Amino acid sequence: MSLNYAFGFSLFLLVLVGLNIYFFYTLNTAGKQSPNFMIPSLKLDLTSNVFKDIYNYLNYLPSQYKVKNSKFLPVQKILLGSFNLSENINTASVWSETEKWSSQDSLFPYKNGTAGRILHAIQTSQIALVDNAPKGTQLKLLLLLEGKQKIYFKPKRYNLTHVINGNIYGGYDRHNSEVFAYYLAMVLNFRWIPPSVTRRVHLHKHIIPVATMGLKRTMVKNDSGSMCIYGKCFYCRINETVCPDSSGEIEGAAILFLDGQFKTHKSPWRRSYSSRKMEWEIDDDFCKKVKGSISTKRLLNLIDVSIFDFLIQNGDRHRYEVYKDQIILLDNGKGLGNPKVDVMDILAPLYQCCIISPSTWHNLELVSGGVLTDTIKLLSAVRERVLASEEHFKAVERRLLKVYATVQYCIGKHGRAKVFKNGYV
Ligand SMILES: *[C@@H]1O[C@H](CO)[C@@H](O)[C@H](O)[C@H]1NC(C)=O
Ligand SMILES: *[C@@H]1O[C@H](CO)[C@@H](O)[C@H](O)[C@H]1NC(C)=O
Ligand SMILES: *[C@@H]1O[C@H](CO)[C@@H](O)[C@H](O)[C@H]1NC(C)=O
Ligand SMILES: *[C@@H]1O[C@H](CO)[C@@H](O)[C@H](O)[C@H]1NC(C)=O
Ligand SMILES: *[C@@H]1O[C@H](CO)[C@@H](O)[C@H](O)[C@H]1NC(C)=O
Repeated sequence: MSLNYAFGFSLFLLVLVGLNIYFFYTLNTAGKQSPNFMIPSLKLDLTSNVFKDIYNYLNYLPSQYKVKNSKFLPVQKILLGSFNLSENINTASVWSETEKWSSQDSLFPYKNGTAGRILHAIQTSQIALVDNAPKGTQLKLLLLLEGKQKIYFKPKRYNLTHVINGNIYGGYDRHNSEVFAYYLAMVLNFRWIPPSVTRRVHLHKHIIPVATMGLKRTMVKNDSGSMCIYGKCFYCRINETVCPDSSGEIEGAAILFLDGQFKTHKSPWRRSYSSRKMEWEIDDDFCKKVKGSISTKRLLNLIDVSIFDFLIQNGDRHRYEVYKDQIILLDNGKGLGNPKVDVMDILAPLYQCCIISPSTWHNLELVSGGVLTDTIKLLSAVRERVLASEEHFKAVERRLLKVYATVQYCIGKHGRAKVFKNGYV
């Protein structure tokens, strides 16, 4: 009898464990996948319960988060005006405007069409000099444009449908992730990001004639006799080159260079980049420790950044730069790796601290029901081809629902007053 009971109880436990795995699995993947239980590792710690709870909130998400919010229309109109194609752009005046820009409100000017003018200048100004970018882990060039403006150029490594499998921080940087991130940030009203736009440069016409000796030394001819670049960086290898496409051009993200010394900080939620678990991965009270070491403003800022990173699935923000007491979104190339996967722990700052800046929440609520990616498409259509595959756009919308669900989970657990206690900042 008691043996039978023990057996029954074990069976019950087994089913419970199975359900846990299933919930964790469904939450971290997307679409209707056959539940064949090919789970890499059993995550039966407390975190998986958090994910299960969030998943429950996702199932009962109020319908307002699934329909378009009409309040966004006037905001969208103003944004479109900022990115509208304007004629007769005087690039010299654009550069002086960006150079002199000083504001507590945004990293660069963007109102009244300035955002569009800056992108236009980055995309079309003549290139005066090209060199390898001085530091970094990934192949990146530094372009000096006419008018002495510097920009970074991160070359395309993958086509838009390429899927990065494995580690969340794996693979080369994705140039389209950099550009996508810029538009995403602007739609979400995160104005602390350098302008970034797709640019195509002709290797023989626009790079080689103005390349420094240093850059020329990091070019090789491939087996078909085509000149290719392998660059100079931590992970640069002579056998991992960037070659021009059939029209002789290299596509890349052209990113406005920030001339300034920024304070760099280690993220409390950084990964170990090994199998070792970090403190935030094992301690459910980790946020308490963080609260003791940084200001509330900085913490809310880190939570904003985690939401942003979650939407594009950038799991590589191990450190962050600060300017005017604001985190700036530099290095956004590790997003858009796999549209089928939503790594939930990128949101750890949000679900562990369970606070959010009311203005961030307001901005998120404004872009429900597909408006977020619709607006990214509208803004980028002015001067981009397609920024990402449709699967990635859908994935961003799916993740936005998970952000809503996470905030609902926090409200359910702690109440609105605590989640939004920091007033409108
Ligand atoms: C964009 O500019 C064109 C003409 O330059 C204008 O007709 C159009 O209304 C503008 N669109 C927005 C959304 O501002
Ligand atoms: C934008 O234009 C409006 C109206 O034309 C003007 O009032 C405002 O000062 C301008 N803003 C900037 C930043 O130039
Ligand atoms: C894109 O890349 C993937 C994987 O590298 C490849 O299978 C696919 O054929 C490529 N598609 C195009 C259009 O080049
Ligand atoms: C390039 O060579 C390195 C060793 O020098 C190797 O680890 C790497 O896999 C190679 N890359 C490719 C794409 O073959
Ligand atoms: C060499 O580069 C050209 C231009 O990008 C490319 O079409 C060709 O496939 C490359 N050949 C080899 C052997 O990698």
